Amino acid sequence: MGFKIGKKIRAVIRRDKEVMLTTTKGEHPLVSVSGDGDYITDIEGNRFLDFATFISVYNFGVNSSKEVRNAVKAQIDKLMHAAFTDFYAELPVTFSENLVKMFPKGFGRVFFSNSGSEANEAAIKFSRIFTKKQYILAFYNSFHGRTLGSLSLTSSKLAQREHFGPFNSAIHVPYAYCYRCPFGKEYPSCGIECVDYIRKYPLSKEVSPKEVAAIFMEPIQGEGGYIVPPKEFVKGIREIASDNGFLMVADEVQSGYFRAGKFLALDNFGVEADMYTMAKAAGAGLPIGITVTRKSLGDTPPGAHSNTFGGNLVSVAAANELLNYIQKNKSKLESDAKTKGAYIMKRLNKMKDSYEIIGDVRGMGMMIGVEFVRDRKSKEPAAKERNKIMEECFNNFLVLLPSGVSTIRIIPPITMSMANIEKGMDVIDGSISKINRQLKVG
Ligand SMILES: Cc1ncc(COP(=O)(O)O)c(C=O)c1O
Repeated sequence: MGFKIGKKIRAVIRRDKEVMLTTTKGEHPLVSVSGDGDYITDIEGNRFLDFATFISVYNFGVNSSKEVRNAVKAQIDKLMHAAFTDFYAELPVTFSENLVKMFPKGFGRVFFSNSGSEANEAAIKFSRIFTKKQYILAFYNSFHGRTLGSLSLTSSKLAQREHFGPFNSAIHVPYAYCYRCPFGKEYPSCGIECVDYIRKYPLSKEVSPKEVAAIFMEPIQGEGGYIVPPKEFVKGIREIASDNGFLMVADEVQSGYFRAGKFLALDNFGVEADMYTMAKAAGAGLPIGITVTRKSLGDTPPGAHSNTFGGNLVSVAAANELLNYIQKNKSKLESDAKTKGAYIMKRLNKMKDSYEIIGDVRGMGMMIGVEFVRDRKSKEPAAKERNKIMEECFNNFLVLLPSGVSTIRIIPPITMSMANIEKGMDVIDGSISKINRQLKVG
C-alpha cells in the first residue's frame, strides 16, 4: 500500500498555508513528528526512509544519537544561554579546541553563529577585514545563503535574487560543471579552460586582483545541482587565490561533516582553504554556524563582529557531543561513506545503462546527485519528470530532495544500514523505471 494523504496531514498543510509566509517548501506532504536513525514518522504514523537527512543535517541519523540528546537535555537543565560573545563559558572553548583538530595545521580561530548563511556573512566580513580588500569572487550555480551578504554570492536560481538587489561587490565566474560545460568543452581535453578564464577575463578586465578579498567556493556545489568539479579545477582555484594574494574560502555548509566522505570535502581534492564555513550537520539537529580561520590571518578588532546567540550552550552541547562521536569513529565514518557511497553510485550507473532519462550520475562519498534529461543528446533538463520520480518515491515512503534544475540528491545518513540503503535504491530504481517508460511513450 502506497502513501495516502490523511486528514491530519491535510489539516496541518491547510493551516500552514494560511499563516506561514511561503518559503521553499516542495511538493512532499511530509508532516514530521518524530524520527529515529534511518526513518522519519509523520503525523499519521507513516514511516519514511530518509534519503534527504533534512538537507544534510542528520548525517549521523534522524534525530541524532541518544548521547547527543542526553547532552542537550543535561545542558538545558544547567544553563541554556550565556551570551558567549560577551562573557565566557568553558564548553564552547573546549568544543572549538577539539574542532580545530579536524582542520589542516594552522587553523585555530573559530567564530560561532546560527546558520550557514551567517557563517558565510562572517567569512565575507573576515575576508574584508583581514585583507582590507573589498571584492569577492563567487561561482555561478553557487549557494551560500539567503541573507543579503551571502545572497550576493549565491547565484543558483534567479528566484533567490530577484528584487533583492542591489548586492555586495561580488563577481561571478563559471564553475566546472562538466556535464554542461559553460565553454562547450569536454573534460579532460578542455585543459580546464574555466580556470584560465578567471585569470584572463574577470581578473584582467573587470576587477584588479589587488582589490579582491577572497574567492568563495563550495568544494561540491549543493543547491546548484550536486556538481562535482575535477581535482585540477579546485587546485587551479587555490593557485589563482595564492598567486593573486587573496583568500580561498571553502563553504562546507552542505559538503562537510563526512557528507562527501571526509570531514572536509575539500580534503578530497588535496587543497587547503584559508577559511571554512560549516553549519547544517554540525549541530546534530540544533542551529549552529561555524566559521574557522587560519590562525596566521590574525584576529578581528573588538566590536567588529559579534552576535547574541553564537556559542549558545545548548547548540554547542549537541555539536560537542557529536564531535566526540566523530573523533572516536573517524575512520569508520570515512569507510562507511566510501563503501555505501560506492554502492549507491554503482546502482545508479547501472540504472543509467537502462534508463535514457538519466543524463548524469555524480558524487563523492554520500553526496550524490542524479541529473535527469528529456533527451541525452540535447540534454534538455527533465525537471517535471524529476519531480514525478521524487513523488513516486515519496508514495513508496522514501524521502528525497531536488537540487539544481533537474537533479535529485541522494544524501542518506552516513550511518544508515546497508539493508535500508538497498531498500531505498530499489524504490529509486522502480520509480525511475516507471517515469522513464512514460517518457518513452509520451
Ligand atoms: C553550501 C551552503 N552554504 C550555505 C547555506 C545556507 O545555510 P542556512 O540555510 O543554514 O543559512 C546552504 C544551505 O543550503 C548551503 O548548502
